[in-house]
Amino acid sequence: MFIHSQYIMHLPFVFFLPLITLCHSPHVVASSPSSPRVLTQGSSLLVEKKHHLISPNRLFTAGFHEIGQNAYCFAIWFSQPMLNGNHTLVWMANRNEPVNGKRSRISLSKRGNLILRDVGQRIWATNTRSNSPLQLQLLDSGNLVLTEFENKSYLWQSFSFPTHTILPNQPFTKDTVLISPRSSTNLSSGFYKLYFDNDNVISLLYSSNEVTSVY
Ligand SMILES: *[C@@H]1O[C@H](CO)[C@@H](O)[C@H](O)[C@H]1NC(C)=O
Ligand SMILES: *[C@@H]1O[C@H](CO)[C@@H](O)[C@H](O)[C@H]1NC(C)=O
Ligand SMILES: *[C@@H]1O[C@H](CO)[C@@H](O)[C@H](O)[C@H]1NC(C)=O
Repeated sequence: MFIHSQYIMHLPFVFFLPLITLCHSPHVVASSPSSPRVLTQGSSLLVEKKHHLISPNRLFTAGFHEIGQNAYCFAIWFSQPMLNGNHTLVWMANRNEPVNGKRSRISLSKRGNLILRDVGQRIWATNTRSNSPLQLQLLDSGNLVLTEFENKSYLWQSFSFPTHTILPNQPFTKDTVLISPRSSTNLSSGFYKLYFDNDNVISLLYSSNEVTSVY
């Protein structure tokens, strides 16, 4: 975090208050009763409660987003809506397998696995595991991370698994594939893929059941 020293001198409370809050409530760090600031081990975000994680700069929000009638994705979006009132989603955990608007939840297990469930059925998971304390938090960059307290390293991060969007400072690597949405109103996986091919040439592929072509 880059904060000009002048600001630190002028705004000591803004900067230190969150740290003080953290010390007093190690288990539930809530900015408001319905929206925790981070997700701790053994806790969940519930679809009905509209639980969200918000980045400290408030630019990004993570939570359940409605993408169709009674169809929700666990997603990250720009907090500020577009002019038409819809949000721009930048990442989705379950773009092709939306969950119900009731009794769906995402939970951080005591063992460090982040699991998305639809009425008890497991839909998606990070398949991570850790014996040391960690938490899920949304960074100012829009990166959703499972952070291990001890060394502040990321056990998992959404930046490593992009869906259809790359944000500023998000690496696009040889293992990254971007898949376009179906349409402007249907965000499930569409027909265009952007990736590095075997010769490390960045390629745009159109692939449907009938046709495959590289641009
Ligand atoms: C807003 O999103 C909803 C649900 O995804 C969609 O049905 C609607 O067409 C969108 N509105 C506009 C103006 O794009
Ligand atoms: C989006 O498109 C997929 C593939 O055609 C379809 O299965 C799904 O029902 C659509 N989702 C919505 C919300 O319309
Ligand atoms: C951070 O700590 C965890 C748990 O002690 C360990 O598994 C992991 O390898 C460490 N990561 C780094 C980058 O040191």
